[in-house]
Amino acid sequence: MGTPIFIRNASQLVTLQGSSDAPRVKGEMSELGIIEKGSVWIEDGVIQAVGTDVELFEKYSGRLGEADVVDATGKLVTPGLIDPHTHLVFAGSRENEFNMRLQGATYMEIMNSGGGIYATTRRTQSATHEELFQEGYERLNQFLRHGVTTVEAKSGYGMEWETELKQLEVAKQLNDKHVIDVVSTFMGAHAVPKEYKQNPDEFVRLLIEEMIPKVAKLGLAEFNDVFCEHGVFTPEQSKQILEAGLRYGLIPKIHADEIEPYEGAELAAEVGAISADHLLKASEKGMKAMADKGVVGVLLPGTAYFLMAESANGRKMVDLGVPVALSTDCNPGSSPTVSLPFIMNLGCLKMGMTPAEVITATTINAAHAINRWREIGSLEVGKKGDVTIFNVGNYMKLQYSYGVNHTDTVVKNGQVVVR
Ligand code: NIG
Ligand code: FE
Repeated sequence: MGTPIFIRNASQLVTLQGSSDAPRVKGEMSELGIIEKGSVWIEDGVIQAVGTDVELFEKYSGRLGEADVVDATGKLVTPGLIDPHTHLVFAGSRENEFNMRLQGATYMEIMNSGGGIYATTRRTQSATHEELFQEGYERLNQFLRHGVTTVEAKSGYGMEWETELKQLEVAKQLNDKHVIDVVSTFMGAHAVPKEYKQNPDEFVRLLIEEMIPKVAKLGLAEFNDVFCEHGVFTPEQSKQILEAGLRYGLIPKIHADEIEPYEGAELAAEVGAISADHLLKASEKGMKAMADKGVVGVLLPGTAYFLMAESANGRKMVDLGVPVALSTDCNPGSSPTVSLPFIMNLGCLKMGMTPAEVITATTINAAHAINRWREIGSLEVGKKGDVTIFNVGNYMKLQYSYGVNHTDTVVKNGQVVVR
């Protein structure tokens, strides 16, 4: 029984109330359920009441003395932001490649000459569990300071079992030790290791017959992801890997159509993936197939920005009925950032989404992309007490005033963790 938290009198309380088992599409993405002069009462880690300050003051007037009262006058209050796609656990950084790309080298060229994902894999292989934990912990602190209260985290800088296991164990330990909730994805299929370049199907076999069963048995991941890309894993290999995961209860996710069109969006719909991510080069047919099956499109405009590529067509996807979420893709190669609010700004300026749509895309739709919509993603009675308070007066200003961290206060599981 902790101290209740009473967040009072927000100029806009974005509730996103009415969450259901389907992610939001089209016009639903603009329905933020805003309460002006809104308040929330949280107790035992769970939201107990949401309404106007007048309503909640009346209801709890006898208990004000026992609560931690947070005055949100003039501020924006939203559900804690959710980042549904990160490569959280890794060692080192790759600013040298940033410099190379500025001089004309491409992301895939760097990777194919042994840098890129391979460079981070070497660093991650030689890092100790403790080092990876420390780096990941500090990264989570930064996420929290940007208003993020839940992140998905992928393995994939192992390319062999010991290091994949180390990454997944570090992610689990981070989930246990850090206030942010970390949701784990196995991404053994992130790149084909050098020693399997001549025989990639043998690596696919290893993933399917050995690694995926072990991950499932140890309960170290909920999702199974694959980098389906020309020169990495083919759609056929990706399908085999994702279907193998399904047999072991791992829900499919896919890095799809990032650099070249490769029918990844179509594959996501075919295998019943919970999300297809990136989608810069997704075909209209693929988008429609995703819309039909309710596959969440997790768009990563920070990656496009950082790789100097054209962003995914978020506007078109929303209009076609794809439920869209947004994420940082936080990783050392293609998107070294933790700033989900900056990604929201890019969602507006580079993908044609509206400020209201990008709020939905980083809250309730992001919760759907990681199968957490029952617990988080909206401010509703019974959901977790995860709340972010921004020092702006309305939700549009959060996107409009960019490059500034407006995060003021963060409440996680009903406790103030950033103030
Ligand atoms: O999502 N596309 C593949 N994987 C990551 C990048 C990983 C890296 O460059 O280290 C991504 O962009
Ligand atoms: Fe990624």
